[in-house]
Amino acid sequence: MSLLKDVHAHLILVRNERMLAFLQLTWASSLSFPSDFKFGSATASYQVEGGWDADGKGPSIWDRYVHEFPGDIKGNATGDVAGDSYHQWREDVKAAAKMKLQFYRFSINWPRVLPTGFANEINPAGVKYYSDLIDALLAEGIEPIVTIFHWELPVKMQDLGGWTNPLIVKWFGDYARVVYTLYADRVKTWLTLNEPNTVCDYFYNSGVFATRIKESDFAPFLCNKHMMLAHATAYRIFDKEFRPKYKGKISIAPHALWIEPATPEDEALAELGRQHQLGRYSHPIYSKEGGWPPSVEKVMLEHSLQQGHTESRLPAFTEQEIEFMKGTADYYAMNQYTTYVIRPSKAGDEAGMWFLTGSPELQATLYHPEKATYGTAYILPVYPEGMRKMMSWVKQQYGDYPILITENGFSSTGSQLDDHQRVDYIKNYLEQILLAMYKDKVKVMGYTAWSLIDSFEWMDGYETKFGLYEIDYNHPNRTRTPRLSSFYYSCVIAERSLDVAESCYKKDSSKVSSDDKNEIDKKYSPPVNDEL
Ligand code: NOJ
Repeated sequence: MSLLKDVHAHLILVRNERMLAFLQLTWASSLSFPSDFKFGSATASYQVEGGWDADGKGPSIWDRYVHEFPGDIKGNATGDVAGDSYHQWREDVKAAAKMKLQFYRFSINWPRVLPTGFANEINPAGVKYYSDLIDALLAEGIEPIVTIFHWELPVKMQDLGGWTNPLIVKWFGDYARVVYTLYADRVKTWLTLNEPNTVCDYFYNSGVFATRIKESDFAPFLCNKHMMLAHATAYRIFDKEFRPKYKGKISIAPHALWIEPATPEDEALAELGRQHQLGRYSHPIYSKEGGWPPSVEKVMLEHSLQQGHTESRLPAFTEQEIEFMKGTADYYAMNQYTTYVIRPSKAGDEAGMWFLTGSPELQATLYHPEKATYGTAYILPVYPEGMRKMMSWVKQQYGDYPILITENGFSSTGSQLDDHQRVDYIKNYLEQILLAMYKDKVKVMGYTAWSLIDSFEWMDGYETKFGLYEIDYNHPNRTRTPRLSSFYYSCVIAERSLDVAESCYKKDSSKVSSDDKNEIDKKYSPPVNDEL
């Protein structure tokens, strides 16, 4: 009973605080988005495409992983078919057009275009797939935003050491040159790497996810270094060989986890945590002096020497490399979902795993904010206030780079077309973005709702859903059906404001819950065996 009371009191507190954010906005400024603020949504190739070995595509580490270790993933799921966007991509374009998205962020599956990863062999069917998608988006007035790498490393490259091999810097540059050559005439906004910190830190520290390699001493830091250099190489190639002719902007999208101190005395540790989490992936690019964040460099050296190493496990950059990486982004991109709390580790604490439970190097423990609420993905506590704090921190650290929120979204499970919680989530996070803009004077380019359609959520398979559109995985065509949140988001886009009447989106959603659903299905589903 008392637990119930506590939960109730907690929910009231959270609700009141969110109400306060809303009031702050209505009093202080406006609920409207400026005319140059863009609204979009996103997916990533492995999570939606399927067609894992179709038409000359080579294998990626995810193809290999799900086939060799099916038991690792919930429900033994694979991305072999997923949302079948390889065949159903027109439905994705329709879904985006129906919401009047201004942009759609998708990624290129490296071995679909280059079957071995190396640039000597190109797969024409893969080239055509993305080309057609880009053309169809442009025809609907939707800007394509393209991520060059969202985790499908070609297996041949993994077998050569993947992101721990310095040669990958050149391999990635060669791959980037191929995609610019193919698409830079039509794609004007690029992202090199999606969540490099998730790939290097979370994956190598946990040992789950493809590569399935657990190595915490060197792999995360080698990977970090090579990803920064690979990004900078791709940027420099774009800048020199393509921008003069085609124009365009390019950046990198880290996982921007906001870190709060457990108590005010832990602020210095929280700042170190932020530098460890995001600074290692931003400081080399956006800071004036370049290179690793000095505070992390110091801690890593001390810790490595204590362990008996002769040098830091955080590998040094040369002066030349520091200059090469500096300034290699035209805007600041970030995936922002969540906030963790940091405190100094105590005797008896387990050595933490960065960036989920703590850090042996920082001698710190991470945990979830008490005020957080949850969707289905436990590792992503819902904490909208962190969005504003993260954005303001980026401005304070790196200056006035325009920020594009490249991912933000709510996870649910089961079939839920009336996804009120996702509607609230989008509203609450967008409120915090408005506060960052109007109160903290952060420059913002736009917002990307993750995800356009349900998708393969990595280790969680298909149980965890982020889609504005639900996918029916039992239907051969993987039918897409709009959720309430898609109607809500279209109303926000149409009004360019959070001041949206319930009647705007509920009117549409009533269709979803009633028999009219069949009408929507008919209108937006292709015939079975859709010819391509
Ligand atoms: C970030 C990743 O980029 C994306 O692939 C994933 O689905 C979402 N977070 C949600 O976990």
